[in-house]
Amino acid sequence: MRVNTRGRIQSHRTVDFDVRANAVRLIEQRLLPHEFRIVAMPDYRATARAITDMVVRGAGAIGATAAFGLAQGARAFRGQGLAAFARQVERVYATLKAARPTAVDPVNAMDMVRARMASGTSVAEQQALALEAARAFADEDVAHCEAIGQHGEPLVQEGMRVLTHCNAGWLAFVDVGSATAPLYAAQAAGRQFHVFCDETRPRCQGASLTAWELAQQGISHQVIADNAAGHLMQRGEIDLVIVGSDRVLGRTGEVANKIGTYTKAVLAAHHRIPFYVAIPLSTIDWHLRSGGEIPIEERAADEVLGAWGRVRASASRRRRGSGAGGEPAYVRIANPTSDARNPGFDVTPARLVTGIITPAGIFRPRELWRNRGPLGGPE
Ligand code: MRU
Repeated sequence: MRVNTRGRIQSHRTVDFDVRANAVRLIEQRLLPHEFRIVAMPDYRATARAITDMVVRGAGAIGATAAFGLAQGARAFRGQGLAAFARQVERVYATLKAARPTAVDPVNAMDMVRARMASGTSVAEQQALALEAARAFADEDVAHCEAIGQHGEPLVQEGMRVLTHCNAGWLAFVDVGSATAPLYAAQAAGRQFHVFCDETRPRCQGASLTAWELAQQGISHQVIADNAAGHLMQRGEIDLVIVGSDRVLGRTGEVANKIGTYTKAVLAAHHRIPFYVAIPLSTIDWHLRSGGEIPIEERAADEVLGAWGRVRASASRRRRGSGAGGEPAYVRIANPTSDARNPGFDVTPARLVTGIITPAGIFRPRELWRNRGPLGGPE
């Protein structure tokens, strides 16, 4: 994606790999929209921490990060013993898998990398195959998002008002994005439309990341409070909802996504507004039999009890170089003696989803299993 930083336009991927330094390179998403910075993770433990701490986030992006992290950990192995190497790869896999539990993309990505490594007969060969496979996953992620754009583009008609939740844009993938792909394709086709970005408390990925992406892309948009969508739907001001997902069950069509997605799906169904979920194939879980089995990440209470932002830097600090964007600051919002509960995701039942936009076309959620062939599922 092309990013304008201080007047310079450059192409960036959200996740990349520095072969010489054996480092995973990431856009530091916690600094956006105030500051654009690329950071390098020097070893697989740092890469796993970057996933947990949400330096990088979004199912596709953490999938690619885990794939590169696995290659990174494999390449760091010194020696020629295949048994010791396999133990190291297992350690790296387990560490990256544990970094965040809800999205299935990291597991699917690392399984693909491990399967490709299996054809290597020496440590060196397997190390080379790991990196090759991680790169292939990242490239496929981009290709899948582009195909989602082609299939989803006709849904975004002239003058529509589209609601999206959290960030399922290029920052949540390697490039392009899933929920944003039909928007970018409709824009390329010359259509005008307007996007409402749910702010997406508690971490505000909609207000900070999706709004920033759409601004970079020159798409008309406004941030709304999470509680405002029902009102806008009731007044006929939303025509279409498109969101991403961290895990779609291939057997049932249930959709895990950022907390609040289920609420929006209920509202959309009540107001008969089409509700679409856009996903690459790495987001499909072909194993679980029920949404109740999806592990839902519980995050720290302080995300709910307060908020991160920037406070305006004093003139003297600005002169000393703290930046015009101000200083990062956490402000406590809630009553000081109260605790909070912070589930990061929820599960939307298949009956509330109009269609799943995939790289292989648009399917009704319950049609996924029947179409598992073209969707890369089991025999
Ligand atoms: O907690 P996050 O920011 O990783 O959550 C991201 C989302 O919920 C996205 O909507 C989701 O990953 C789908 S797009 C890849």
